[in-house]
Amino acid sequence: MDRLTLLSLGSINADFQVRVDEPPGCRETLLAHDLCRLSGGKASNTAYLAARFGHRSILLGRVGDDELAEQALGPLRDAGVEVDGVGRAAGRSTGVSMIMVPPDAKKQIVLATEANDCWDDAATDAMLACIDGCETPACLILDCEIPARVVRRAIQTAARKGIPTVLDPSFPDRFENDLLSTLQAITPNRSEAEGLVGRSIESMEEAANAARELQQAGAPIVCIKLSDGGCVLAVENETLHIPPGDVEPVDTTGAGDAFTGVFAIALLEGRDPREAAAWGVAAANLAVTGYGSQPSYQTREQVEQMAGGLLARATVVDG
Ligand code: RIB
Repeated sequence: MDRLTLLSLGSINADFQVRVDEPPGCRETLLAHDLCRLSGGKASNTAYLAARFGHRSILLGRVGDDELAEQALGPLRDAGVEVDGVGRAAGRSTGVSMIMVPPDAKKQIVLATEANDCWDDAATDAMLACIDGCETPACLILDCEIPARVVRRAIQTAARKGIPTVLDPSFPDRFENDLLSTLQAITPNRSEAEGLVGRSIESMEEAANAARELQQAGAPIVCIKLSDGGCVLAVENETLHIPPGDVEPVDTTGAGDAFTGVFAIALLEGRDPREAAAWGVAAANLAVTGYGSQPSYQTREQVEQMAGGLLARATVVDG
């Protein structure tokens, strides 16, 4: 396998994660346990995966000039991610996610974006120069937990350079739909897809309709990540459901990032979008079997093995 280049641009956070024994919100003060401090954020998580899958991984984004920056970046550096393109926002905190994981594994996150939202012209220009100067073949994996104007300019610069962009539209209100046709692929979860199409999605057929609508609006490949761990994929004239694996979830944190990261890696490696989506589903399903985001990510071999079985069970969805 040739070593390819993945650029990950978006949120870089210090994650503070705990387990709770009751549903978050059920009382004013909840007892928690199993505190862990991790590197997190969507761009960090996909950058970690790109390095773990053996590719050149370049992280772009913003941290603060505080001690939390090392919590966010240290484990990535150790994993081989290039973090020189991460800028420091003077006087600001690094982004922080406070994550509660209840017994049903469905995490709840409170995110303080902090430095992720601090992009002046110099920071934006430096980031665009990294994209513009990047060796190809490469892929840009982008999320919307940074300002919309930065997202827009990154997508446009990558397109001019011939670098495909795979977009995770979190937060969907920071994404402008006129950019859909400049992407290679978009990977919303159900609620993000609802935000993009402006209506609720209650069934697989409705997810398929939404995927086709986003495709008609310009995105060549649309993958809607479903809450059961599977996905609906619209590509060319086909809409497929890729089923979830048979796993016991302990923590869903970072599963969506595992999907997007591995899906983008597989596309860049030249895999068919159907196979790439099955790789994404497998990576996400394996990720929910461990606690935390990056520590729960599995190997290429494990992902490949599960993906083959999932693809064999994929079905066409009529909308
Ligand atoms: O998608 C999961 C990530 O997003 C976590 O690492 C956390 O930082 C949140 O913002």
